Amino acid sequence: MLRSVILAASRSARVKGLVQHAPVSRGVVRRFVAGEGTEDAVRGTGALQASGLLVTLDHLGEDTTEQGQAEAAVKAYVTVLGRLAEEGLAAGAEVSLKLTAVGLDIARDLATANAARIVEAAGEAGTTVTLDMEGSATTDATLSVLAELRRAEPSVGAVVQAMLRRTEGDCRDLATPGSRVRLCKGAYREGPDVAFASRAEVDASYARCLGVLMAGAGYPMVATHDPALVGLAERLVVRTGREAGSYELQMLFGVRPDEQRRLARAGHHVRVYVPYGHEWYGYLVRRLAERPANLVFFARALATRS
Ligand code: FDA
Repeated sequence: MLRSVILAASRSARVKGLVQHAPVSRGVVRRFVAGEGTEDAVRGTGALQASGLLVTLDHLGEDTTEQGQAEAAVKAYVTVLGRLAEEGLAAGAEVSLKLTAVGLDIARDLATANAARIVEAAGEAGTTVTLDMEGSATTDATLSVLAELRRAEPSVGAVVQAMLRRTEGDCRDLATPGSRVRLCKGAYREGPDVAFASRAEVDASYARCLGVLMAGAGYPMVATHDPALVGLAERLVVRTGREAGSYELQMLFGVRPDEQRRLARAGHHVRVYVPYGHEWYGYLVRRLAERPANLVFFARALATRS
């Protein structure tokens, strides 16, 4: 309920302006976002890798409506991939890409061609790409672009959202040999026709999907901070006889960092999703909406009005 209120309020231009410019924002942004520039991303990647963690970099931006903006996003990814290779960090750092950042809302073919350029640059750098999943209106398009990209580069990763009713079926389709599939709960506001409404239903769906992916032939990427689901993943690893390196646990930058390091020390491959760039607002709102305690941040930002 609270989550819906925050997500709805965040769409107001007035709320966006107040939050972006409130002094309290700076500290909160720094907790969840590595910085605004390429070098911030490279530095952050180096620091995480030094503590035994893998990285996926997300250049912030989504819902692009102009071709020039989509082109800028492609260039940002190509640049950061080149820098990761130069610094010897690419083997432990892939990139996560939102198709709407590279033009999905303009034309599907444009987004496919732009994503293919990033996939090619990732290949040259010695790493790969995962396609983030956005709102349910984009699920079919994202999965069809994924299939097209995988024809040239099978390592391109998929993301599925346990909150969607369709996802258990998508997991069965995607659990094929070599298929990298990130399972998350889902961060977008969805209607009851397509999504489970209660936390308990989403968690139960997550557990079912995880069972399908872990038992399947693909490469599951278990993206959650939920201790119960991380525990379930650890049990399924044992039950299905998976070795380290045949699956990953994934968490977001700034969320449960001690647990990330503990899991890596326990022998799991742990990847941290690291966002960077100027367009941090939409990302930050989704993170804050996930925890009611964070409402305090919104209230303070709106009260400061500067
Ligand atoms: P949830 O938010 O339900 O929290 C469950 C429990 O986890 C809490 O009760 C608490 O115990 C613990 N917890 C959560 N946050 C915590 C915090 N800040 N501090 C301490 N404990 C905390 N979404 C999407 O729609 N498309 C995508 O492509 C992606 N990609 C993605 C990649 C990665 C690597 C991750 C980790 C997540 C995503 N997501 C995503 C976001 C995802 O869908 C979801 O919104 C968040 O991960 C929050 O859900 P949790 O599974 O963490 O559980």
